[in-house]
Amino acid sequence: MTDRSDDSKADSIFTRLAHTGRLGGDHAPFVNPPVVHASTVLFESMEHLHSNKARYVYGRRGTPTSEAFAAAISELEAAEGTVITPSGLSAVAVALMAIVSAGDHLLVADNVYGPGRDVCGRILGRFGVETTFYDPRIGAGIEALFRPNTRAVYLESPGSHSFEVADLPAIVEVAHRHDALVAVDNTWATGLFHKPLALGADLSILAATKYIVGHSDALVGTVSACGAAWRKLHATHGYLGMFTGPDDMYLALRGLRTLGVRLRQHQESAMRIATWLESRSEVSRVLYPALASHPDHALWSRDFSGASGLMGVVLKPATPASVAALIDGLRLFAIGFSWGGFESLIVPTEIGRSRTAIPWRPEGPVIRLQIGLESADDLIADLHRGLEQLVLAESAEAETN
Ligand SMILES: Cc1ncc(COP(=O)(O)O)c(C=O)c1O
Repeated sequence: MTDRSDDSKADSIFTRLAHTGRLGGDHAPFVNPPVVHASTVLFESMEHLHSNKARYVYGRRGTPTSEAFAAAISELEAAEGTVITPSGLSAVAVALMAIVSAGDHLLVADNVYGPGRDVCGRILGRFGVETTFYDPRIGAGIEALFRPNTRAVYLESPGSHSFEVADLPAIVEVAHRHDALVAVDNTWATGLFHKPLALGADLSILAATKYIVGHSDALVGTVSACGAAWRKLHATHGYLGMFTGPDDMYLALRGLRTLGVRLRQHQESAMRIATWLESRSEVSRVLYPALASHPDHALWSRDFSGASGLMGVVLKPATPASVAALIDGLRLFAIGFSWGGFESLIVPTEIGRSRTAIPWRPEGPVIRLQIGLESADDLIADLHRGLEQLVLAESAEAETN
């Protein structure tokens, strides 16, 4: 077969995602890898067993399915290697366990995904790692929080509820000068629109459950890294015995093939809806970094090449009952905690209480929208319906008071 891989690095990531992660050898004629259900791997002889030359040794140590998916994510994230985990949350856990040890100090952005905070406080804390949460907009000011034993920084950019964007290059510069590694949760943008490793971070975490799988039907996580961080990550992942079922890995790889078209559509619809929401009198602010009005828009424009479909909406002050009327009044936006799938979702954002470094007290109730692949016109009509219910509920309340 002709070698068609020459110059592949010059191709756009949209092109590479259609071609990466194909297996050679006996699998070469097939576009997709086999879904290998395996624990046992057989050896041809004692010599083969002891030769250390076997490509596969045990299901948990790699299969054609996991190799194909990991290679594709490494391409997406511009990484040397990728480990696959059973969920996005376990990806956060393995990433942090790979880079901190007892007696270390960890700096964590105050806006990271809530259960990620618990990995730090409830798990790493038990093993002697101390965590300090910091203002997500701290930038180079993070230096003041470094201690002699600070070994890692963990951040999410933008935060998936409050949408602050980190000045990643500034944080990386400080961290590396202090001999600390930086782990970034890149779930919102994915490597398609943001490449933390290319900006100097050491580990890039994806809840592949969201945009990579893209169809709300599997839980998968990945962590990608380069150099020394990759060696630590690979070893820790192996020691912890983490693996993911082959069907889920296959679904994630299959989702990845259409990530480009899906994310571009999520972005286009999200931008239209965000702009429309900004014009509404019921809305105070829209938390979407691609909007010029977002306080971190300049950072986003510098470090990201696109935006996904997740945003926050700060409403003008309204009662909980009116917000419930808005949400219950929607027909297309379903109520659900996840995001990144083809379907639109809505949840109230109630993270104020979990923040500890810097208060997060928006001027009104906040809702989070995942803009799906439905028609943007239909979604706007749906939100229009919901906002009407909010206004009705507010006036009914005003009359009774
Ligand atoms: C930003 C972020 N990271 C990680 C996770 C965890 O992913 P999973 O649900 O696959 O464990 C989530 C889940 O909502 C998330 O929003």
